[in-house]
Amino acid sequence: MRATAIAQPNIALIKYWGKRDAQRNLPAVGSISITLNDLFTEMRVEFDSHLAADSLSINGSADEAMLPRLSACLDLVAGEPRSRARIVSRCNFPIAAGLASSASAFAALTVAAAAASGKSLDAEALANLAGRCSGSAARSLYGGFVELESRDRDIAVRALCGSDEWPLCVVVAVTETGPKAIGSTEAMEISRKTSPFYSSWVERQDEDLNAARAAIKDRDFEQLAVVAEHNCLKMHSMMWASRPPTVFWNSVTMRCLETIRMLQDDGVAVFFTIDAGPQVKAICLPEETDNVRASLASTEGVIDVMVTGLGEAARLLDVA
Ligand code: PMV
Repeated sequence: MRATAIAQPNIALIKYWGKRDAQRNLPAVGSISITLNDLFTEMRVEFDSHLAADSLSINGSADEAMLPRLSACLDLVAGEPRSRARIVSRCNFPIAAGLASSASAFAALTVAAAAASGKSLDAEALANLAGRCSGSAARSLYGGFVELESRDRDIAVRALCGSDEWPLCVVVAVTETGPKAIGSTEAMEISRKTSPFYSSWVERQDEDLNAARAAIKDRDFEQLAVVAEHNCLKMHSMMWASRPPTVFWNSVTMRCLETIRMLQDDGVAVFFTIDAGPQVKAICLPEETDNVRASLASTEGVIDVMVTGLGEAARLLDVA
């Protein structure tokens, strides 16, 4: 029983940060994201009753560090007891560096594992399983603009607008390539337990979700820009105020924000967002992409710049 699936990462414009239920990995707040097109993770899962243990290779090298989380995902999707599996992953962008690699990895793994274990599940069921493994992964089960609603016992995920209905572009400025110092699960718990701003973050999330949903419906770039930047800065402020503080930014992150402010002052339709890492994602109208890319590429300290449009849902490539 073998299956291969592919998924693209997604970038939240209205962020998920904090858990309602850590055991079930349920988010404390809803979120809205865009699924990307040109970055991807491909996962092949092969269950084999002769294997003594699960194994994982990422881009051709064995990886022990990530294996326990992926094995737990297989337990959840295939059910226990199960045959051990060979997992082969291919990813075309830096892993665990704040580029949402866990979103595409767990979305692809969930789709591949379900097919390889003979389960036929709809997108909602797959999103719930992927979300148990990584909260943001649930959103990569859908393409374009995606909303994740956090409910008492589960999540509901739906597409708000297709990738071709409002084809925005994303320019990612890579400011550091190493893995981040702290994982999002741990950092979220520190925020929840110690940040004086955590409760107002949770209480006021619906305002931002409503504003973003309306902006997407009206294709109002300026409105989306204002609420997305505000939500991102609120999330990072909450982390900066936790004990110990969680600071994902470096000095180049800040310089990229200055570049984006300069572009905005010149009337360029662009805004930023930053996740659990130091990379800056600039979202812009397609006609501004070359300008935004060139400006970020020439910002001092930027290591690399990636450009992508919006993409489709996670999907199965083959089953054997
Ligand atoms: O899904 P996780 O546990 O990797 O957390 C994602 C957290 C953020 O990327 C910062 C926000 C989000 O909604 O994707």
